[in-house]
Amino acid sequence: MAKFAKILIMIVRLVAVVSIILGALLAAGKAQAVLGAHIGLGFMVALVVLMLAILAFVKKKTVLGILGVVFAILLPVTGLRQIPLQTGGGIDIEQVAHIIVVLLTLGIAESIHAAIRKSEL
Ligand code: HEM
Repeated sequence: MAKFAKILIMIVRLVAVVSIILGALLAAGKAQAVLGAHIGLGFMVALVVLMLAILAFVKKKTVLGILGVVFAILLPVTGLRQIPLQTGGGIDIEQVAHIIVVLLTLGIAESIHAAIRKSEL
């Protein structure tokens, strides 16, 4: 299972880097055209985190599993709350919420991977 978890966390890391770059372009108001790609990749991250959460439950890491499920849901919720995109400058509360949820989701995904790897050493 550790091998599968490793593949999942590598997908999360790779897709997250691209999503953060696209998200930064969106927030800068420079590239509305990448919105679809950002949302598509975002849902992919949410889905893979959900798969990691299931692995956490199988490994009896219940708290991490619950956190994984909750944040896999909060990620698209905070993302979609930003639509319609604001046209003015500055950063609003919905954006800050999305960034915080993004960072916590990535942290939880890393924690689940670490816990599974440790349990199989
Ligand atoms: C289903 C999941 C997601 C949806 C629906 C979504 C949606 C959005 C939307 C609509 C924006 C534009 C905000 C604006 O122009 O002001 C945005 C911004 C952003 N997103 Fe996402 N996103 C998702 C997942 C992710 C993921 C997985 C990451 C990174 C790993 C990410 C990182 C960012 C960043 C850094 C920004 C710019 C800051 C901000 O405006 O909050 N998003 N997202």
